[in-house]
Amino acid sequence: MKNSRMSFSIGPYHIRGKLLLSPMAGITDRPYRDVCRSFGAALTTSEMITSDASLRHSRKTRLRMLDIDEAEPRSVQIMGTEPDAMAAAARFNVEHGAQIIDINMGCPAKKVCNKAAGSALMQDPKLVSHILERVVSAVDVPVTLKTRTGWSQNHRNVLEIAKIAEQCGIASLVVHGRTRNQGYSGHAEYETIRRVKQSIKIPVIANGDIQDPETARFVLDYSGADGLMLGRITQGQPWIFSQFNAILGGVKPSAYLPAPPSLEDKINTAISHIHAIHRFYGADQGVRIARKHIGWYLYSLKGHMPQALLEQKNLKQLKKQLFSIPSAKEQIETLIVILDSFCSDSVQVSDPKRIGKRIQTLKQHHDQGNINSTYRTKAAQL
Ligand SMILES: Cc1cc2nc3c(=O)[nH]c(=O)nc-3n(C[C@H](O)[C@H](O)[C@H](O)COP(=O)(O)O)c2cc1C
Repeated sequence: MKNSRMSFSIGPYHIRGKLLLSPMAGITDRPYRDVCRSFGAALTTSEMITSDASLRHSRKTRLRMLDIDEAEPRSVQIMGTEPDAMAAAARFNVEHGAQIIDINMGCPAKKVCNKAAGSALMQDPKLVSHILERVVSAVDVPVTLKTRTGWSQNHRNVLEIAKIAEQCGIASLVVHGRTRNQGYSGHAEYETIRRVKQSIKIPVIANGDIQDPETARFVLDYSGADGLMLGRITQGQPWIFSQFNAILGGVKPSAYLPAPPSLEDKINTAISHIHAIHRFYGADQGVRIARKHIGWYLYSLKGHMPQALLEQKNLKQLKKQLFSIPSAKEQIETLIVILDSFCSDSVQVSDPKRIGKRIQTLKQHHDQGNINSTYRTKAAQL
């Protein structure tokens, strides 16, 4: 039977659409969440802000803080091992704008697992139960959970964890179809997710290796999941949400971009995103953070790279050149020139008139609010 319901609820929040953005530490910051939302991500999650009072006023914490102008519902992920500390972190984040608290039991990182947090917690269902109970009773917003299928091939206990979660009042569950020991190797499997969906009543979101609309359709139908979470595939191609949504049906693509977006739309998105990173973090930090995103955009658009440019420089050299640029202004101008050349056969990578004109057009676009222009210039306030 086709799974065609296009929305589900997390507590009082109606989640319109089936595609959610995976939390990815160090990547899914405010500019990233905004650009994914603009293409139809139905929910995004931000990193927790620490409840450690001594760190609360650090620049890092302040950049992570939610803004009330961020798309709702605002979900924040917390992680830890101590039920009381987790409850305190949940309360603290709700006081600072979180409308959903997500608990991370899916992270395989060693530094996390050695402390029995992240996916290591799945080895201790009693502790899981304590944590979930304490967090759920500490806040009056929905609490969600993100897990893997288990600890190892022989310990796939997500069914047990899912039932505990439901009993403790968890509002929805994301399952990444790998065990902790798999890390990111091998392939995600969806059979276990299907069994989880069949055994609990709360919404279940499937995650792992969903890289094209056909897989998305298959996973939804096969597992019966209420939604899908997309992670690495969104890097350098946030428009994937509108492309997948167009095929899954039922969700209007973003207000300003049709699905599938044109090459020009994609280029505008990349430039606009990098510009937003510069504004959000400030020029110095922004130029460094932008580099990995630029690499991902170049990779995702490399099929459009003109032959002439390919002959001049290969992608690796091009990235090296771009990554060595120390100034935000120069970084974005060079990116504009390079990406613009993807649209035309005649590559004029050093024509200053062309650069100037392009920057002017983009500025106008921004001023008219046509490009995702809702980012606050946080760095300016710090
Ligand atoms: C760089 C990176 C950082 C991640 N950080 C988190 C995190 O902070 N919390 C979490 O629950 N999952 C985290 N994940 C896991 C993803 O949310 C997701 O479960 C995983 O990448 C599988 O989905 P995908 O195949 O669509 O990428 C991270 C993944 C990556 C690649």
